[in-house]
Amino acid sequence: MNGRLPKKIGRRSFLGISGKLGLGITGILAGSTGLFYYGETQRRKRATPKERPGNIIELGKLERLSAIAGIEKVEYEATIQDAWVAKSIKGFVYITNDTNGQLLILSPICTHLGCTVEPTSDKERGAIDPIGYRCPCHGAEFDSIGNATGSGRGLQGLATFKPLIADGSVYINLLSPVEGRASTRRT
Ligand code: FES
Repeated sequence: MNGRLPKKIGRRSFLGISGKLGLGITGILAGSTGLFYYGETQRRKRATPKERPGNIIELGKLERLSAIAGIEKVEYEATIQDAWVAKSIKGFVYITNDTNGQLLILSPICTHLGCTVEPTSDKERGAIDPIGYRCPCHGAEFDSIGNATGSGRGLQGLATFKPLIADGSVYINLLSPVEGRASTRRT
């Protein structure tokens, strides 16, 4: 024993020390809560890329769609966010493979007044001057790749959607249709 006694702590210094200790503990707690919050935020951020906007629609597996021989109608449901209003829509596209074996995704909306075009019979599609789609409203005709032809001459071709390929699936951006080719009226 060195004969020294611990210094007596006065009331003022006791309050000072306990105050600092309190601040230290609060700081540690705040730090760990902050770390937890940061970790949670990061976890959520990592999950975000898996979510896709409502206007990006999955149509199916590339392998299956690439094997379509004729025309296939593929339906979809989507929720489009318009400012702060979410709108649910249902629709469909026609999928076919063009002569180069490339996926062709056509909008069924007639460019005359917006009715829905329908695929023609195999016979009409196989004719020398083939008609691929016809509109039941006023008879506009489009060829197999959506160009206005026959009685549709003078109209814009059907709009198409660029196929977006990811993880072996085909997606389209509903808000970015590609306008069809303009045609000249038959004279
Ligand atoms: S709306 Fe299609 S021909 Fe008129």
